[in-house]
Amino acid sequence: MDRRNFLGGSAAVSGLLLLKSKTAFGYEANSAVRLALLGCGSRGTSVATSFAKNTSARIVALADLFPDQLEKGKTHFDQVNESLGVPGIDPKLMFRGYKAFEEVASSPDVDAVQISTPPWFHVQHLDAVVSAGKHAYCEKPLGVDVAQTTQALEIGKRAEGRLSLEIGFEVRSAPPIAEVVRRIHAGALGKIACITAHYNAPEAVSHAGADWSPDEFRIRNWLRYQTLSGGILVEQNIHVIDICNWILQSHPIKAFATGGRNVVTNAGDTWDNYQVIYTYPNNVHLSFSSTQFGNNHWFDVSERVFGSKGIAEAPYSGPVRIIGENAWAWTDATPTQSKAPAAFAANGAFTDNLQFADREKDRSFIDSITSGKFHNQTVQGVESALSCMLGRMAGRLGREVTWEEQLQHGEKYSMNIDMSQFK
Ligand SMILES: NC(=O)c1ccc[n+]([C@@H]2O[C@H](COP(=O)([O-])OP(=O)(O)OC[C@H]3O[C@@H](n4cnc5c(N)ncnc54)[C@H](O)[C@@H]3O)[C@@H](O)[C@H]2O)c1
Repeated sequence: MDRRNFLGGSAAVSGLLLLKSKTAFGYEANSAVRLALLGCGSRGTSVATSFAKNTSARIVALADLFPDQLEKGKTHFDQVNESLGVPGIDPKLMFRGYKAFEEVASSPDVDAVQISTPPWFHVQHLDAVVSAGKHAYCEKPLGVDVAQTTQALEIGKRAEGRLSLEIGFEVRSAPPIAEVVRRIHAGALGKIACITAHYNAPEAVSHAGADWSPDEFRIRNWLRYQTLSGGILVEQNIHVIDICNWILQSHPIKAFATGGRNVVTNAGDTWDNYQVIYTYPNNVHLSFSSTQFGNNHWFDVSERVFGSKGIAEAPYSGPVRIIGENAWAWTDATPTQSKAPAAFAANGAFTDNLQFADREKDRSFIDSITSGKFHNQTVQGVESALSCMLGRMAGRLGREVTWEEQLQHGEKYSMNIDMSQFK
């Protein structure tokens, strides 16, 4: 499956007509995009707060499966909105329970929905938002299995030229990372030979409630379960694999992987370490390793790209630079780069080199709506998700797996939770 096949037909002409009228009669006259947060947890709250503070969007609606999360969201965003001199959240625009995603998507008082629910739900929730004709900012990963990515591509085609669909790869928007990749693409490294990359992070924080059923426990601790999260490669390491795909402007054609569940003892089933060798076109290899256990808050994430003219390094913490013929280093007015390694941020609000990633990403999404120059990042989102699933499948099968084999396999997970119990 190449990029052309992913994209399918173009609706550029009709899209242009639509977007012109939206720009003329919609946001220019009434500039605030009315944003709803679906999934009022850690990441969702952090990103929606960034939207409120860094863009012209207003947080007007909240939705969550659980009442306590919804209430926490209201308390927080009432304060945020008050500090910005805009109204708090109207209780009529608070949606709770297993149908909350459909209710918030169809609300006439909402222009765009930020989908920050656990990964299992992303594609289902994106479908509802696009079906209701709303723009979406959807967290990565765009699917936990091959079947969901196929559905995501179909949703993306329906939205093409009509709606903005942004996928939560904010690392691409971090100014130092964007600049080093721009230089690599401009040829600073010469011919690329290989990449080494790693993602070492602490274990997920555990949540417990005395009256939670086993199903509720699973959903509240979704990070520990492969079905709900996709596992550590698909859920978290995807940021690094996405950057490698971006650097190489391609996706891997095959992978060999090892790994296992060697240290963690929680009730879940995700692996706590992976070692993956990806092969990209032109015999370029990515050697990737990952760990996710322990609670010492230490973390280290980086890509190192080796080329005929030099080496590029793009860590979350520490110098972003090119060594060699085209030597260069990112310099920033704020001296954050000296603090390596910095503390892990479970909500993705990292400091150091990613300090402005969310701000830039959020501005870009809102600008795409107000300008009518809509984004559609579903192809990129699916490509990166499938790249991670390829490593996961190779690891689980204990042998090399090709991109085509993975697609033909059509991997499909089952959640086995009756969601209607969450009223
Ligand atoms: N881009 C990044 O850097 C980054 C960082 C952290 C998390 N994430 C992603 O953000 C998403 C949320 O992660 P989090 O850490 O905030 O998790 P979280 O558990 O803190 O929040 C998830 C929220 O969704 C709610 N929820 C669960 N199922 C729901 C459903 N079916 N309908 C409505 N609400 C539902 C939960 O009650 C909770 O409030 C995940 O997809 C994760 O991969 C991205």
